[in-house]
This record gives sequence, structure tokens and C-alpha cells, in this order.
Amino acid sequence: MAFSFSSMLSNDIGIDLGTANTLVFVKGQGIVINEPSIVALEKHSRKPLAIGAQAKEMLGRENPDIEVVRPLRDGVIADFDVTEEMLRFFIKKVQKNKLLVRPRIVICVPSGVTAVEMRAVRESAERAGAREVYLIKEPMAAAIGIGLPVEDAIGSMVIDIGGGTAEIAVIALSGIVTSRSIKTAGDELTEAIVQFMKRKHNLLVGQRTAEQIKCAIGSAGALDEELQHTCRGLELVQSIPKTIIVDSTEIAEALAESVSAIIDSVRQTLEQTPPELAADILDRGIILTGGGALLKGLDRRLVEETSLPVIVADDPLTCVVRGTGKVLDNIEGYQKVLE
Ligand SMILES: Nc1ncnc2c1ncn2[C@@H]1O[C@H](COP(=O)(O)OP(=O)(O)OP(=O)(O)O)[C@@H](O)[C@H]1O
Ligand SMILES: [Mg+2]
Repeated sequence: MAFSFSSMLSNDIGIDLGTANTLVFVKGQGIVINEPSIVALEKHSRKPLAIGAQAKEMLGRENPDIEVVRPLRDGVIADFDVTEEMLRFFIKKVQKNKLLVRPRIVICVPSGVTAVEMRAVRESAERAGAREVYLIKEPMAAAIGIGLPVEDAIGSMVIDIGGGTAEIAVIALSGIVTSRSIKTAGDELTEAIVQFMKRKHNLLVGQRTAEQIKCAIGSAGALDEELQHTCRGLELVQSIPKTIIVDSTEIAEALAESVSAIIDSVRQTLEQTPPELAADILDRGIILTGGGALLKGLDRRLVEETSLPVIVADDPLTCVVRGTGKVLDNIEGYQKVLE
């Protein structure tokens, strides 16, 4: 066993409590948990049966005794008890080799949260076992994770498109100068595909299938090469299972309205950006992060619409939690970026 006494005592952790995915970073170890924010409950007792990937498998396959819930919606906690259970489970999982010292936790909140929501996240983490809780806004954590110079007198623009929210923020001098948080993000794109399949193909598809279509062939505009995807659902007229092939052009059409809403928000944020910072963004470009950054053609579309350089961050799904990890290494030094 290769752990030192000090690593047994130091058990600080960073958490990206996302609408779609929860990631946990342990100081000295890196990302140790990356699981869907999904909990399967036994209906009558509300006892968790499965948490994370295992619960996601059950989504859409529930029986009368099992309820599968996503405790976060639109980037905020929708079900406190279940969120706490989930946090407790993940914290316990990473704590198993530790002595009984409760961890310090850096945890993210969306940039648009209210004071009440912020308190709710803090309390959930405390009740789930944290000794001290530090809150950081998601785009700030993402920017730190990416390695942007957040403390300098240089403006950086980060667009973090998650499951529940798209957050657009301009950061300089350890603060968020202007930001926007909209509820048009990954979940809404998925839902747009569900609706489209119903309308256009008379096919009822589940969230998981719609998400697979989105990730496989979804795009923010025309692609150089047309893509196809085979999917299964329930044919609505005859109520029988059916397989059909969809193509990227029609899925782009299904996503167009939501994509436009995100682009409009980027524009509005740019309009509110002070000129000196706008000049920095013109030099340095916009950084795209979060799972939505992987939507095909989104970077190109943003370049066309804003005439600014656009860069997709490396490993966009882990930027936020890697940011919390960097903060853990120097909580005192990062005091100014914490809430
Ligand atoms: N290749 C892809 N193309 C399009 N969307 C994708 C792709 N991969 C993942 N996504 C979407 O990214 C979203 C998850 O991203 P992420 O993990 O950053 O969200 P989150 O942090 O949990 O949510 P939030 O920040 O809103 O609370 C999901 O909606 C998922 O469908
Ligand atoms: Mg996120």
C-alpha cells in the first residue's frame, strides 16, 4: 500500500455537481469519480438502489417499484434529499481509505444561482460530510481548469455548455465581469430531438436514445459530410417497436432553435463586455467547455456568428472539476475567486 500518513490525513476534495454528471477530484489523486447525476430509488421507501452509471442504465426501464431521478435540474438542486444521498455516496466512496477526518470540499455552483440556492448546495455538502465548504462559480472553475490567466488584467471568455445550463462568462482580475446563464443546454437539445422524432417520424424515443442521436450526429449547422444514425423507438400509430435511420441534416434542423438561443446569449454577453476586455477576447478567442462544446460544428458556427476565434477546451467535460482541483492546491491563494 503506497500511501503516506499525510495523504491519509489530507482528504480535500473538489466536486463538480453537474446536472448531467458529477465528478470528484481528490487532492493528490486526480479525478476519481465521473458518473451521471442519476439515482434509482425504491419507490415506497425512497431508499437508493443505484447511483451513477448503474442508475442511468435503469433510466426509461423503471418498473412500478423503482423510480429513477435526476436530482438536479436546470443546473440547480431540484431534490435536496436525493442530491444529498448522492453526494454522501460519492464522498464516502473516495474516503474509504481515510482516517475519520472530514474533508474540505470545493464545490461548484452555476453563475446564475441565487443566495438561497447557494446556501442549499453548501448545506447539502455539509450534511453529506464536509468539514468546510468552499463555493466557486462554474465558469470560474472551468477557466482555472483550462489554465486561463483568471487573476491577470486580461479578459477571457468561457462558454460552458452543460446539461442544465449554458454559462457564458467574461473573467478578469479573479472575478466574473459579465455573465449570462441560460437554461438552454444539453438537456434541452436532447428534448428537442425527442419532440422532433415524435413530430416528424411518429416515433417515441427515450431520453437516452435521443442523447445518443445528439452525440453521434447532432450538429450546430451543416456538416461537411452527412452522417446517419440508426435508432429504435415506439411507432406511435401502431404502437410497435420500430427501427429507423435519421440523418444529420434533419437533426440539425431539430436543434436549430436551441442552438440559436445559445448564440444569441453569447452575442448579448459580448455586447455588455467593456471594450478593453472585448479587445482581449478578440486576441485570445472564446473558449468552449462542458459536454455541449462537443456538439459538432458549434465552434465553426460561433466563429461565423461572432467573427471571433473559438477554441474547444481539451477534455471539455472535466475542465470544471480540474479547476476545483487546482483551487484545492491553494485555497488561500484562490480566496478571491471563491464565493
Ligand atoms: N459529443 C457530444 N455532443 C453533444 N453533446 C454532448 C456530447 N457529449 C456530451 N454531451 C452533452 O453534454 C451534457 C453534459 O455535459 P456536462 O457534464 O458538462 O454537464 P453538467 O456539468 O453535468 O451540467 P451543468 O453544468 O449544466 O450542471 C449532456 O447534455 C450531454 O448530452
Ligand atoms: Mg457543468
